[in-house]
Amino acid sequence: MGLPPGSVRDAIYDVVSGACPAPLPLDEIQRRVERRLGRSVPRSSIRSGLQLKTPDQYLRVGRGSYSLAGVTASNPGASMAEPGPCVTFGDATLHHADAFEWLASCPDQSIHGVVTDPPYGLVEYRPDELAKMRAGRGGVWRIPPSFDGNARSPLPRFSVLGEEDLANLEVFFNRFGQALFPKLVPGAHVVVASNPLLSHRVAYSLGQTGLERRGEIIRLVQTMRGGDRPKNAHDEYRGVSVMPRSQWEPWLLFRRPLEGTVAANLAKWRTGGLRRISDRLPFGDVIKSSPTRPAERRLAPHPSLKPQAFLREIVRAVLPLGEGVVLDPFAGSGSTLAAALAVGYRCLGTEVNAEYFELAARAIPALAALRTNSAGAANPLDR
Ligand SMILES: C[S@@+](CC[C@H](N)C(=O)[O-])C[C@H]1O[C@@H](n2cnc3c(N)ncnc32)[C@H](O)[C@@H]1O
Repeated sequence: MGLPPGSVRDAIYDVVSGACPAPLPLDEIQRRVERRLGRSVPRSSIRSGLQLKTPDQYLRVGRGSYSLAGVTASNPGASMAEPGPCVTFGDATLHHADAFEWLASCPDQSIHGVVTDPPYGLVEYRPDELAKMRAGRGGVWRIPPSFDGNARSPLPRFSVLGEEDLANLEVFFNRFGQALFPKLVPGAHVVVASNPLLSHRVAYSLGQTGLERRGEIIRLVQTMRGGDRPKNAHDEYRGVSVMPRSQWEPWLLFRRPLEGTVAANLAKWRTGGLRRISDRLPFGDVIKSSPTRPAERRLAPHPSLKPQAFLREIVRAVLPLGEGVVLDPFAGSGSTLAAALAVGYRCLGTEVNAEYFELAARAIPALAALRTNSAGAANPLDR
């Protein structure tokens, strides 16, 4: 039986990224690909698989060795964690790693800002729930009906979480805050995507870890959450919605407490405040946004993809002087890293799921190159 289409290409990618940042000689790539696929693969297929994607995806190093494009052993990201699979594009490095393990190996006081959209149900990114989502069979994912002939993206259904799930959620965010806190420099801002049903629990759990609450950023966006008539009684109660149609998304804002005054903290750590949009306009806590554009979804088909225009504004704001490193520990498609690249910042990320890591490796440069009407526009509510 032949191999499914693309399997040699994917195995080459896994092998080369798995050795990252070290380059691998062609014969070693062939041996590992064959082991992975459980059969022999002609040297010519491996060679052409590599050559086809060089220099976009792979870099030829010396005589017949290959590494991932843009990855160097001396890049700041690679030196900050245990060696492992990673991809680097300019100043952005994404590690294929568990956020908690990676944070444990990250040097203390080395992160200047965090922008992240963590998993919420804690179950929604489990392989069985992702399989249900792809099969259109629900589970924790709600598959909205098509609208005007357009298929709409699945949404995690937070209302199905029980008391135990909610307790686990608090444990998760408490653990996250504890793992993150020592890695932040004093004055580092942390922005965490949330939702109106759970934000109070997340804010409480993070606050328990010593992070100082600094408010919320409201993303004004019409979502597909809420607004439905009662289930199985649509006709009977036509004038009723069970919950309000959600038109905003809270992004929680925290800061590691300052060392001294804001001015002293800025001078020592380059953090403590938020970057202004312009001399006239401070960064504001309400941002008009739209659902992620289809063009971005095509480049980065992740179920929780956030739009570049919005992310670029947030990411830009977290480094008050534009100096330092921004982290997204739950990177998904790498959209935060792409936003950081687009605004000219250094950025690190971790993503635990192999499929999303590979997706991000392809999507980051493409998303970063997109034009948006975003950060720095004259009036943030008129974009
Ligand atoms: C809500 S999604 C982020 C999507 C992202 N905002 C985007 O625009 O693509 C959360 C991501 O965290 C990843 N994740 C879950 N647990 C993780 C962990 N322990 N370490 C690293 N990544 C994790 C999931 O695989 C998922 O891709």
